[in-house]
Amino acid sequence: MIKKGLLIKLGSTRSASYVLPKYAGNIEWKFDRRYLNKNLAEHEVLEDIEGRAQFRQSLSENVRNIFEYTFSEMLNNAIEHSESENIHVIVEKNENNLLFQINDFGIGVFRNIMNDRKLKSELEAVQDLLKGKTTTQPQAHSGEGIFFTSKIADAFSLESFGYKLTIENNIEDLFFEEIKPSKKGTKVSFDIACNSERHLNDLFAEYQTNPEEYAFDKTEIQIKLYTMGTIHISRSQARRVLTGLEKFKSITLDFDNVPNVGQAFADEIFRVFKNKNPDIQITPINMNKAVKFMIGRVGK
Ligand SMILES: Nc1ncnc2c1ncn2[C@@H]1O[C@H](COP(=O)(O)OP(=O)(O)O)[C@@H](O)[C@H]1O
Ligand SMILES: [Mg+2]
Repeated sequence: MIKKGLLIKLGSTRSASYVLPKYAGNIEWKFDRRYLNKNLAEHEVLEDIEGRAQFRQSLSENVRNIFEYTFSEMLNNAIEHSESENIHVIVEKNENNLLFQINDFGIGVFRNIMNDRKLKSELEAVQDLLKGKTTTQPQAHSGEGIFFTSKIADAFSLESFGYKLTIENNIEDLFFEEIKPSKKGTKVSFDIACNSERHLNDLFAEYQTNPEEYAFDKTEIQIKLYTMGTIHISRSQARRVLTGLEKFKSITLDFDNVPNVGQAFADEIFRVFKNKNPDIQITPINMNKAVKFMIGRVGK
């Protein structure tokens, strides 16, 4: 089932485990509707869903809150970013899970970011998207929707023009792959267990340095996403990691599954960037011995 070509996965999960269909249970209700993307408002679509599908009775409060937030964010993206004429919405509740899919036929999430930021590949768009605060419309948007939606889901995916990003939070793994046939536009899929104990406010709190300020100012970066195709990761890769990070106060760099980094990579982050941004806290985690050594000798 996995297509040839690019497959990037973090973590040690065997990819077979995520392509196996999950046991979903009987469908209890399903909402399936196509909308014209003209004067469409997220809250009106939410009202359609909540009105028709015995929505309130069948979900716990925390899952309902999660649904309302994530669905509105993803639908708003299709409305305001996709330039698609139509938007197809599916919401399904089965015995165990609540799922939704928002499908548009527009310009595509990865391509949109690539064009706007003059990036070289879809992978670079994913790298920036997963930092948070990546937006192509900074006047009206904050770049938080995909960041938080992808973290609160059990499983989340974005599929667009031949590429698919999948985030499996239950197994803490992430996949980015080429996939055929190529999907025109963007398809967002979201899946959460009905008995999920996640709460939105806890998630937001994890990415705030000061709980009283309610500001999204903390992020976490998987360095593994920047190490594809090279052994020694360089200064230019450090710059890719660092673009956009001045917007945060605290940055965790996760070196899980990173065998080594170059001296220049460590220097660019832990000396050059630090000197330029002395108030930003950078915390490296999950370093092996080699990485710890390289980072430890910066500036000595
Ligand atoms: N359906 C889509 N079609 C095209 N581009 C999209 C789509 N969804 C998201 N994007 C791109 O991804 C970026 C990040 O989305 P998001 O995290 O929701 O932040 P925001 O909407 O605040 O910009 C958007 O600014 C846009 O460039
Ligand atoms: Mg958005």
